[in-house]
Parts: sequence; C-alpha cells; structure tokens
Amino acid sequence: MKYLVTGGAGYVGSVVAQHLLESGHEVTVLDNLSTGFRAGVPAGAAFIEGDIRDAAKWLDRSYDGVLHFAAFSQVGESVVKPEKYWDNNVAGTLALLGALREAGVRKLVFSSTAATYGEPEQVPITEDAPTRPTNPYGASKLAVDHMITSEAHAHGLAAVSLRYFNVAGAYGAYGERHDPESHLIPLVLQVAQGRRDAISIYGDDYPTPDGTCVRDYIHVADLADAHLLALTAANPGEHLICNLGNGNGFSVRQVIETVREVTGHPIPEVVAPRRGGDPAVLVAAADTAREKLGWNPSRAELAGIVADAWEFAQNLSKEN
Ligand SMILES: NC(=O)c1ccc[n+]([C@@H]2O[C@H](COP(=O)([O-])OP(=O)(O)OC[C@H]3O[C@@H](n4cnc5c(N)ncnc54)[C@H](O)[C@@H]3O)[C@@H](O)[C@H]2O)c1
Repeated sequence: MKYLVTGGAGYVGSVVAQHLLESGHEVTVLDNLSTGFRAGVPAGAAFIEGDIRDAAKWLDRSYDGVLHFAAFSQVGESVVKPEKYWDNNVAGTLALLGALREAGVRKLVFSSTAATYGEPEQVPITEDAPTRPTNPYGASKLAVDHMITSEAHAHGLAAVSLRYFNVAGAYGAYGERHDPESHLIPLVLQVAQGRRDAISIYGDDYPTPDGTCVRDYIHVADLADAHLLALTAANPGEHLICNLGNGNGFSVRQVIETVREVTGHPIPEVVAPRRGGDPAVLVAAADTAREKLGWNPSRAELAGIVADAWEFAQNLSKEN
C-alpha cells in the first residue's frame, strides 16, 4: 500500500514511517520541517518539503491513505500564542481534509491526544469521558477530532483518531529531539548527559503516593504498531477514537529514579511550584484499542522505555 505521512520528519511520524517501510509499504513524508528534522525522514521514504495546507498539490488517487502527525504540540506555547495552534492544527487539517476529498483518498489516521480530556473526573480515562481541554493545544486537537467525525459521516472517510498519552522511548535511529524539549524523560536524560544541572519537579504535594504527578508512558514503537493496525481497522463512514496508553501510571519521581538506574547518574532534582493545568493523574483505559484494533502493547516496562531513549540520546550527542 502507498501512504502519505504528514509530519514524518518529527518524533512519532518518523517512527511510524519506519514501521510502514519495514512492513513493505510505500511511504511519502510531507513535512515543512518547522519542528522536524530532515534526518528524521527514514531512508526509503520519499520526501516532500511542504506544508499540509498545500497537500492538494501532491495528493492523488494513488495513495491508499494518510497518517496525519503534522501539528504544533507545545502546551505552554499554545496558551500564549493560541492563534498559531488554531491556524496550523485546525485550519491546516481542514485544508488537508479537503485535499483528501478532492483526490479521492478515503482513509485517515490522526494523532489526537489525552489533552482533549483535560482534568479527568475518573481514571483510567475512557473515550466516553468528558472532553474539556484546559489549553488551546488540546482544544485544537479536539476540534480536529470533531471535524474528522463529520467528514466521515458526510463524505464516507474511513478514520481513526489515536489519543496518545505520554509517548516515550526511541526506535533505532528515530527518537525524540524536540526543541525546546518539554517532555519529562528526554529532560531527565539531558541531566544525565550534563546538558542541564537538575530536573525540576513541578509540585510534590499532589494526592498521589509520592506527591508527584502520575502519567501513562507508552513506548513509541507500541504506538507505531497501533497506527498500522488502525489502517486495517478503519471503516468507510466511521470515525473510531482510541486511547493509547499502557494503563500503568508512573510518578515523576519514579521516572527520575528509573533514569538513575538506567544511566548510573545521580540526577539532582529541584522541587518547583505546581504548573497550572497539570492534572494529578493521567492514565489511559485502552480497551477500545485492544478490542477494535487488536492492539497489544509489548514494551510497557518503564526501564526498557528509558533505556531505548537513553541510547538514542547518546547516539544523537555523538553525531552533534
Ligand atoms: N509526543 C507526544 O507525547 C504526543 C502526545 C500526544 C499527541 N501527540 C501528537 O502527535 C503528533 C506528533 O508529535 P511529535 O511529538 O512527533 O511532534 P514533532 O514536533 O516532533 O513532529 C511534528 C512534525 O510535523 C511537522 N509539521 C508541523 N506543522 C506542519 C505543517 N503545517 N505542514 C507540514 N509539516 C508540519 C513538523 O515539522 C514536525 O516534523 C502531533 O500531532 C502531536 O500533537 C504527540
């Protein structure tokens, strides 16, 4: 099959593109390199340096589907520059959906997020939980989910939205290199590499066993498996929404301790005030993905996730 991967020069898109290639598919990456890297595009994929808003220039009937990762995803930035998020994530996806329709490409897998739920009333979070995002990033992703639902119902698109919880780990040469980095595991690894002095813990008085926030970390390769399964499970006229997480929560302190064990570095920590809008616990109920996609994540162990991310971070710093 032939797939267009938007955002395939970024973290998750590059890993999924590599999985598609390894499964024998033909892959074209469309990425404007706004936050991605040319080196992130897997060898074997065709590359178009361009914007999703111009996707109509390149999409045609030869494509069997689109995997749509291209977006801005910095929560803090979305609060101070919301227009940037509405424009890229929502208007950009609206243009992409139009291009798919025009070209007769009728399959889409979309990167949604746990941020669509906001502060949960209950954990683990199921897909029918209330969606009350607490920042423009989450709101923009929720708006896209609504757009995709109506596109599926009105125009027969076969669509799956995958709501990722905390993606982590690496897959060979493909891993996380956001700039600025905002995700916990790569930040703690930067301390191990001597690139920052200490890791900040934002609040240690949450109602959790050790007082720090609890999150559901999912290996990026398990996430990639779900995308390939979603391409098979998508049905015309339907929009399936699935959470992707392991259902296990790890606290910030547990993550830091695991990085100490994996890297052998002491990892100094500093307790800072809570950040607004950080829920105490975010853990996924991923039963829908297991039942409807046949997804079975196999890399749930935190030490393994951290070890893969550590290997990637060390190789990256040797290259630079
Ligand atoms: N990383 C996570 O933990 C996480 C969690 C939940 C959801 N997501 C979602 O997954 C997707 C991928 O995240 P990531 O961590 O790989 O981010 P990333 O920033 O590494 O990748 C995004 C890619 O999209 C490209 N891009 C952005 N706007 C574009 C546009 N208008 N046209 C063409 N290319 C464009 C960027 O250059 C980049 O290569 C995003 O949609 C994000 O919202 C990520």
